[in-house]
Amino acid sequence: MKRIGVLTSGGDAPGMNAAIRAVVRSAIYNGVEVYGIRRGYAGLLARDFVEMSLGSVGDIIHRGGTILRTARSEEFKTKEGMEKAVNNIKQLGIEGLVVIGGDGSFRGAAELAKRGVPTIGIPGTIDNDIPFTDYSIGFDTAVNTVVEAVNKIRDTATSHERTFIIEVMGRESGHIALYSGVACGAETILVPEKPYTIKGVCDKIMSGYKRGKLHSIIILAEGAGNAFEVGQKIKEMTGLETRVIVLGHLQRGGTPTAFDRILASQMGGKAVELLLNGVSDKMIGWVKGELVVTDLEKIFSAQKPLNEELYNLASVLAI
Ligand code: F6P
Repeated sequence: MKRIGVLTSGGDAPGMNAAIRAVVRSAIYNGVEVYGIRRGYAGLLARDFVEMSLGSVGDIIHRGGTILRTARSEEFKTKEGMEKAVNNIKQLGIEGLVVIGGDGSFRGAAELAKRGVPTIGIPGTIDNDIPFTDYSIGFDTAVNTVVEAVNKIRDTATSHERTFIIEVMGRESGHIALYSGVACGAETILVPEKPYTIKGVCDKIMSGYKRGKLHSIIILAEGAGNAFEVGQKIKEMTGLETRVIVLGHLQRGGTPTAFDRILASQMGGKAVELLLNGVSDKMIGWVKGELVVTDLEKIFSAQKPLNEELYNLASVLAI
């Protein structure tokens, strides 16, 4: 194998740069050239390539975002788009592709693999909603970002004895909400995987206030409801003063944690190793402290389960 490509696709996640760096350096170490493809699959169609050198990935391990930039491409999903992408890859002499992204990005990688382009996926999304890996790159950083924000909100929540509804990202999954909720000692954690009633939420808040609590922190996953509606209903049912904060894209930025950098470095190195050994159509995961390799196809029919034990513990601790 003489030349491989690397791209980041879908929502960016802190640690993607560390993964790019690991792919580039591992490949060059093994005598393989690397082309960086800018703006994900959109760049693949537009032939937006750049040859990567050892120096091109210097000074990026600590930076959030992705130096290759990212995008979501509708054209790539069409038959014509896919053929164009394969032609571009072949014309450039790219013999293997590392795709760093989430579920949608892996669907594209699987399609390319079917058309004879060896691909390896690296899970990069703050949502942590990819099955067959305990963690995806960016999740740990996003959780830490939420915790930092909630620490600050707590100060003012206590001073004013208010109830705060804090909406966090995660699409249809509640992993960010659960982990950050536990780390923040939130009174209530609302996730799409677990049904809830506003009455139940209100009862819990009121029992807390009766026992002398000075504030209430509710972490709401974006897939579990609209924070402003939830806040309004709680206000109407309890008469308490509520405030709503949507943390939004703040959660996608920032310097990656050491955990995300190490995870990304290991996955990047492994992706190159797999391509060099003729492996394709796989995703690298991190399960119980070890790198594992899974067929991309298996990912599309599976769902990442919520950590039930942690969810149950959260309820116990927030009694
Ligand atoms: O998948 C990452 C994510 O940040 C989700 O948590 C969120 O729902 C979505 O992307 C936001 O997408 P956009 O950046 O296109 O608004």
